[in-house]
Amino acid sequence: MALHEPLIDSFGRIHTNLRISVTDRCNIRCFYCMPLENVQFKPRNELLTFEEIERFTRISASLGINKIRLTGGEPLVRSGMPALIRQLIKVPGIEEIAMTTNGLLLEEHASDLFDAGLTRLNISLDALSEEMFEKIARRKGLDRVLAGIAAAKSVGFKHIKINTVAMTGISETEIIPLAKFAREQDLHLRFIEFMPLDAEHNWENEQVISGQKLREIIEQSIGELSPVKQADPNQPSVDYQYADGKGKIGFIDSVTQPFCVSCNRLRITAEGQIRNCLFSEIEWDAREAMRTGKSDQEIIQLMRDCVLAKKKGHGTDTPGFAHPDRAMYQIGG
Ligand code: 5AD
Ligand code: SF4
Repeated sequence: MALHEPLIDSFGRIHTNLRISVTDRCNIRCFYCMPLENVQFKPRNELLTFEEIERFTRISASLGINKIRLTGGEPLVRSGMPALIRQLIKVPGIEEIAMTTNGLLLEEHASDLFDAGLTRLNISLDALSEEMFEKIARRKGLDRVLAGIAAAKSVGFKHIKINTVAMTGISETEIIPLAKFAREQDLHLRFIEFMPLDAEHNWENEQVISGQKLREIIEQSIGELSPVKQADPNQPSVDYQYADGKGKIGFIDSVTQPFCVSCNRLRITAEGQIRNCLFSEIEWDAREAMRTGKSDQEIIQLMRDCVLAKKKGHGTDTPGFAHPDRAMYQIGG
């Protein structure tokens, strides 16, 4: 469906994947993402409207973007997500719309999201004990997340993934219960290494439990894991399966094994800033372009400039790495 040259960066990476943050608000306060107190959320008029999101998506699709993921903050705290999904799925060239949610509001919205055409759901879950959930999320809500997962399954979602961040000295005890839960529930569990994107800047390399370490822990307790063929060459996770074939488990080793070389993602923040990387220090202002009457062609140029400026890698493993100012909730996971 691409009408123009694709979005290709100076290292030859073709961008087909757009992550749209719809809000920086969230109903919990995961310590690896948000500050606990005094969160400065963007005022409503600074967020892109659904019409602006649709226009940006339409322009993106004309450049070969075919997959959209809605993120936050927590996307379901913004009302009207099913309506937005209906709008975006109609855009020619868009083949898939996914969402990453913390699951707290999923029970009430699962059915409408499914009917609207949402194709994939990733649900964040770091703990199965209420105590640990509260320690990480700094709010209650485990029972609601579990109800959300059950609702998503029962309304018919087929590609549910569970995203887990496990941290040294904090949540090791949750690894095996989560792995067993995912196996029993037929959910695709993925461990994401803790990245330096916490608002409070407390991240330390020692807190990262590497994918390799997690695999060892799981193999010791549950059973041998063998790699499975990548479903998508651009996917960030490396997937494994158990010897009995029951359950798939993935590892997103963003810190110890960066996957920048195959990154095909572009991001737009809730207030309409285009970013070429989670760790980017620069943003390109699509909101201002749209609100000052710029043409589609001018916005295409903005996107091309952004993609051309993309660095080869995020550099979290290099000595001069500086913790970015923007935290995960302000970017969109
Ligand atoms: N490191 C790794 N993953 C993170 N997420 C949020 N902050 C971080 C971080 N600092 C994940 C959440 C969620 C998704 C939106 O991003 O677990 O699954
Ligand atoms: Fe909210 Fe997601 Fe950030 Fe947790 S990681 S505070 S659920 S936006």
